[in-house]
Amino acid sequence: MVTTSFALSVEQEELYRLIEDTREHVFVTGRAGTGKSTLLQHLAFHTDKQIAVCAPTGVAALNVQGQTIHSLFRLPIGLIGGKDEPQSDATRKLLNAIDTLVIDEISMVNADLMDAVDRALRTARGRRAEAFGGVQLVMFGDPYQLAPVPPRGDELRYIHDHYRSFWFFDAHVWAGSGADADGLLDVGTYGAALNIRELRSIHRQSDPAFKAMLNAVRHGHVTAEIAQVLNDTGARTPPAVGDGEAPIITLATRNDRVTAINKKHLDALPGRAQTAVAEIDGDFGRGEGSYPADVDLALKVGAQVMFLRNDTGSFGEPPRWVNGTIGTVTRIAGGSVRVDVDGQEHDVEPAVWEKFRYAYEPSTKSLTRDIVAEFTQFPLRLAWAVTIHKSQGKTYDRAVIDLGSGAFAPGQTYVALSRLTSLEGLYLTRPLRPRDIQVDPDVQRFMAGVRTAAS
Ligand SMILES: Nc1ncnc2c1ncn2[C@@H]1O[C@H](COP(=O)(O)OP(=O)(O)OP(=O)(O)O)[C@@H](O)[C@H]1O
Ligand SMILES: [Mg+2]
Repeated sequence: MVTTSFALSVEQEELYRLIEDTREHVFVTGRAGTGKSTLLQHLAFHTDKQIAVCAPTGVAALNVQGQTIHSLFRLPIGLIGGKDEPQSDATRKLLNAIDTLVIDEISMVNADLMDAVDRALRTARGRRAEAFGGVQLVMFGDPYQLAPVPPRGDELRYIHDHYRSFWFFDAHVWAGSGADADGLLDVGTYGAALNIRELRSIHRQSDPAFKAMLNAVRHGHVTAEIAQVLNDTGARTPPAVGDGEAPIITLATRNDRVTAINKKHLDALPGRAQTAVAEIDGDFGRGEGSYPADVDLALKVGAQVMFLRNDTGSFGEPPRWVNGTIGTVTRIAGGSVRVDVDGQEHDVEPAVWEKFRYAYEPSTKSLTRDIVAEFTQFPLRLAWAVTIHKSQGKTYDRAVIDLGSGAFAPGQTYVALSRLTSLEGLYLTRPLRPRDIQVDPDVQRFMAGVRTAAS
């Protein structure tokens, strides 16, 4: 568990109480750096409710020590399309024991999956007339950042025919989701009320001018003046690697660009790379994307690396690094990697990522959370460059933003810029273009309603 050195803010505390003291369905949203992830961790640690924490992807689930939605609900991959999936006795018992279901990175959950979660809970709990079978839903995310994977083919046609958009907020389970307008469902008896709450104070940045610029990028309201300030500030050569300055990371849109940058720098260092091979116990699922770190981590002395976990540290000591901290490898020996962070050297040991699965414990009639697989690797990755996608949730003091041939997804430029703690840390490989700033019109529609709902 991450220990934080600060108290929750008043608005975070208020939302925590709302979630803890009521059974309302709450969507916790807010701009980048408003402390959504921090609140989720606080809730997971302090709640007295039986909660199950889940997330749409394997890595997102590992980050919150939860389970993927698909594995928790035993759902098939791909379009579910209104079908009722068979449930085992064990799944039914488990779903019956949940008071509150927490979903992180909700913006990546599509409407089809949201409705499948609703149906699964109604079926398992035998409460067909009640949204989510009476379970409280608590969701965290910022739709201006990550979108669901765009549907294709039949999936796209299905979503198009049945939903106003593929976003979770247009799922039929939500009252006023638009399902009534299409005459698809009688929302009056079917839909659940969603309490949308926005965290307003930004903790990652402190300069009001920079915060205002980020907000303009978020909403696609970048004026010529704002673009000029960002472009003028960013138009400078980043300090050369190894000149004694703190390391700097490049955030790029595409994976191949990131891999090429990291390889070029690693190859340029003297000596042979040493490769740490991850130890994998149990089933992590298939595919590269299911692991929280590289299986084969090639490092050399001099390599620029990023930490992938918070320092669990020791009692009373401030954490030596957090998820996203950048440093330089100074020694590789004896099963540890020495990393220089801001002039301080730390010996880093391999870390264990635990994959959890919830189960029902009949003797106590409660949920248990069991470790079903473990992944052991140094909590490091090469960090001359990282994709904007993988920079989600992280904080950097300085970064080179490389939009290459252009941002290709809504929110991408906002995610990249909002990782920075201040404008002084901004470097751009080329000026921002209007096309780099994309806002999803469905997000605009939904979030326009949020402001009214919250005020
Ligand atoms: N109450 C608080 N007081 C001081 N610092 C805080 C507080 N809450 C969060 N922070 C710090 O602010 C930073 C951003 O918080 P966090 O990562 O939780 O934001 P987020 O809303 O999840 O951002 P993102 O949308 O980018 O994922 C972190 O460094 C966190 O430690
Ligand atoms: Mg976050």
